[in-house]
Amino acid sequence: MLVDGKHYRTIWESQDEGVINVIDQRCLPFAFRIEEMRTVEEVAAVIQEMAVRGAGLIGATAGWGMYLAARGARACEDWLAEIRKAGDLLKATRPTAVNLAWAVERQLSALKHCVDAKHAEMKARQVARAIADEDAAMCQQIGDHGLPLIRSLAAKMGARESVNILTHCNAGWLAFVDHGSATSPIYAAHDAGIPVHVWVDETRPRNQGARLTAWELAQHGVPHTLIVDNAGGHLMQEGKVDMVLTGTDRTTRGGDVANKIGTYLKALAAKDNGIPFYVALPSSTFDWKILDGSEIPVEYRDAREVTHLEGLQLGDLGAVAEEEESFRIVAEPTAGVNPAFDITPARLVSGLITERGVCAASEEGIEELFPEQFILKTGIGTAESELPHNY
Ligand code: MRU
Repeated sequence: MLVDGKHYRTIWESQDEGVINVIDQRCLPFAFRIEEMRTVEEVAAVIQEMAVRGAGLIGATAGWGMYLAARGARACEDWLAEIRKAGDLLKATRPTAVNLAWAVERQLSALKHCVDAKHAEMKARQVARAIADEDAAMCQQIGDHGLPLIRSLAAKMGARESVNILTHCNAGWLAFVDHGSATSPIYAAHDAGIPVHVWVDETRPRNQGARLTAWELAQHGVPHTLIVDNAGGHLMQEGKVDMVLTGTDRTTRGGDVANKIGTYLKALAAKDNGIPFYVALPSSTFDWKILDGSEIPVEYRDAREVTHLEGLQLGDLGAVAEEEESFRIVAEPTAGVNPAFDITPARLVSGLITERGVCAASEEGIEELFPEQFILKTGIGTAESELPHNY
């Protein structure tokens, strides 16, 4: 992805050995800052405080966190126990996006076969690189498979100007290593010359739509308009939405979708208005062990994100302050509650766009694309070494 004309990934190895860089997303869109991480504790803090966020990126960051943990455990006699402890630390940071636990488990299953700490450090680096590279590649393939859906909407459009796509939160390149999930087909369509316009839900309480999605669409030159979260249903009734396209933090093997709070309401409105509601995800975001969405743990965050807003103060003559400020929007003693995700049942989802293609949001549909996950479900006769990474 380009930022002011320069290609970036959201996470990368620094020139200095043992230093991992990320874009600090808390500062966007007002400042572009790079955060350095040297220890697994720093990685845990970066995930917890949402300097990085989004399912794929959380997974890739956890992968690099395990590398830093292995590096930090070089002098320890029981290095594997230290690395396992680090895995527990990382897994405790954010519960809903399954990519995090998946990346930690993938590292642990590779590292337990290492002969010594040095070997573990080398292996962990290889695995972290692979997780990041695969994430970027899968997202690119999601774009390839999602493009025909947008193309066929454009073909039906006739004289109408653009395909209007509504998205919620940020499932863009900032939520992954590159390309994004929901944004990948949008970028592919835009690059192919198909006129697209994106309705960007602001996505309270943290405003990932306003702060991140709008920023990255602007960087790519994709026409877009910011709307408040409550506007989507009305725009659908007015015929101004052709498709809803979101990401997901965890999707069950039955097709139930956990995504940013408010997604469920958009799916209901889309159903009522006969508008296709698609969810884009790499296979690392499937939770193969869960069938029913009610089993997905939903993260509850600090109520302060609800009772306060963060932003830049407009000064005299439109000049803006250097640092963001926090503004209370409700009087004491009113309390807030802050569930960060909701579950959209599979029956409201028109289809899942994955790196292998588009499938129905159902056990049968998902099994057609990922049969190996369903054969291995029983575990009968399968050696551990034969299990795919994301089992
Ligand atoms: O709380 P976040 O910002 O980590 O939430 C993740 C999201 O941005 C969304 O839920 C997104 O649509 C899915 S992540 C690809």
